[in-house]
Amino acid sequence: MKDLVFATHNAHKLEELRAILKDFNILGLHDINCHEDIVEDGETLKDNAIIKANYVTSNYHIDCFADDTGLEVDALDGAPGVYSARYAGEGCSYQDNVNKLLEALEGVENRKARFKTVIALNLNGEQYLFEGKVEGVITKEQHGEKGFGYDPIFLPDGFDQTFAEMPMEVKNKISHRGRATQKLVEFLMKR
Ligand code: IMP
Repeated sequence: MKDLVFATHNAHKLEELRAILKDFNILGLHDINCHEDIVEDGETLKDNAIIKANYVTSNYHIDCFADDTGLEVDALDGAPGVYSARYAGEGCSYQDNVNKLLEALEGVENRKARFKTVIALNLNGEQYLFEGKVEGVITKEQHGEKGFGYDPIFLPDGFDQTFAEMPMEVKNKISHRGRATQKLVEFLMKR
């Protein structure tokens, strides 16, 4: 099995990706002894994905992919977007972000939102980009215990369970990261 680094420290994301990319030996940053926090100071999801993938490839000389995700809320002009991780401030928790978003949308009827993921892959000296998105709405209250981040308040279109209520396999099939990863997998399989 080919080794491929997924440039993340996030155990949830590694677990999700390993379940999808079964034909690869997916290594996390810990597995290559990279304990730094890579600074994600890009202005777009694409910039940040490239920053992370290039950091690993240039410092560790290994094939790697990195993703960056944002939640875009229409009524907030696309916020939190690229700032989704630190929406409620530097060092905030997932719950802080959820609370802040629910407050920002108090009394707001248009709750349309989407998750977007961009993946940058560095393979054999070339760079490739893949994008996935999922449309949905922000619920008025939290539902479910699974997943992470904004999952308890994101209801994907066509479903009656939030991401935090559905089994991980179902979320993986329809999620932003699942779809972007599917494109990555199809690409890798063709090679
Ligand atoms: P990252 O770029 O994947 O680290 O995502 C940035 C932020 O978006 C995370 O800190 C989470 O708050 C949120 N996020 C990313 N993916 C998901 C998801 O699948 N469900 C819920 N929130 C997510």
